[in-house]
Amino acid sequence: MNLRRAKITAVSHYLPERRLTNQELEKIVDTSDEWIVERTGIRERRVVAKGQATSDLGAGAAKRLLEQRGMDASEIELIIVATVTPDMFFPSSACLVQMKIGANSAWGFDLSGACSGFVYALATGAQFIASGTHKKVLVIGADVMTSIIDFHDRATCVLFGDGAGAVLLEPAEEGEQGIIDFILRCDGVGGKFLYMPGGGSLNPSSPETVAKNMHYVHQDGRNVFKFAVRGMADISEQIMAKHGLSASDLKLYIPHQANLRIIKAAVEKMGLHERQVAVNIDRYANTTAGTIPICLSEAVESKQIQRKDLILLASFGAGFTWGSLLLRWEN
Ligand code: ACO
Repeated sequence: MNLRRAKITAVSHYLPERRLTNQELEKIVDTSDEWIVERTGIRERRVVAKGQATSDLGAGAAKRLLEQRGMDASEIELIIVATVTPDMFFPSSACLVQMKIGANSAWGFDLSGACSGFVYALATGAQFIASGTHKKVLVIGADVMTSIIDFHDRATCVLFGDGAGAVLLEPAEEGEQGIIDFILRCDGVGGKFLYMPGGGSLNPSSPETVAKNMHYVHQDGRNVFKFAVRGMADISEQIMAKHGLSASDLKLYIPHQANLRIIKAAVEKMGLHERQVAVNIDRYANTTAGTIPICLSEAVESKQIQRKDLILLASFGAGFTWGSLLLRWEN
């Protein structure tokens, strides 16, 4: 088969308007702005309005992207939504986004990869371009984390926010590189450190599961932190070594935004300069599948990324899942 490279031809993001600051959280749980900033780098996060769900954020990002690309939604052939907070178990959020944007020629599905969801989805979408079966694939990373957070648990409620980002994948032209390579991993042994136990087939929702707060995120923060630091740095270094790259070859490193200390540890290990690293955790906290496309979108908007720049995406999250993806910006 004659494989063709995929490239990102448009990127956008959508954030709910409501800001929730650390100072406001001080009034809800026993925490302080100082603790949150020092331990995580987070200052505020966005929160959906009542009735606003993951597909609304995803559709918001997709509509902006279509406007930017000057393209009609009917041209989209496939929609992949990476999320751990779908509007419902079914129908998929991809179906709901399809309806909301009027992508009447598309099929679609959701992908559950937690904080690595967007990297997984981007790699997956690129395969449909490479095989030659599709020419326009919409990849969305969207989460409404506040829908599964216990606002009585200070160890988790300060960490997350709501948001979405979207990219369009199309075939690269002759001589263009686009999505160059990726390394993806998962290890279910890590599942016990970060999970939502209730509501699935193992513990179907019942008054008892709700009483036990099983419908919320449960996390052993210290263990996740330890694995995340090593996992994200290792997988980033692996893909750099595989392509014979050194730190100075990269224009921008876009790590998943879970904790500024995790990002700094990876950046230090890789020998990158601060200006080569995308950080917005201070403003949006951890939006799970949303963090990387939101960072990419902001970097393109601010012209931090130019044509032919080399960009490395990296993630680590629940599962455990982790991955890195190398791309050349071709726009
Ligand atoms: N405010 C004040 N004190 C707090 C808070 C808070 N919000 N949260 C915890 N503490 C306290 C703890 O109770 C503890 O007190 P103790 O020593 O009296 O027991 C103390 O602070 C230290 O707690 P640690 O958990 O050791 O704090 P740590 O420095 O590890 O930071 C954190 C905690 C921020 C959760 C960190 O472990 C972390 O970021 N972990 C990784 C999170 C992550 O990457 N998640 C993955 C992505 S999410 C996904 O995939 C869906």
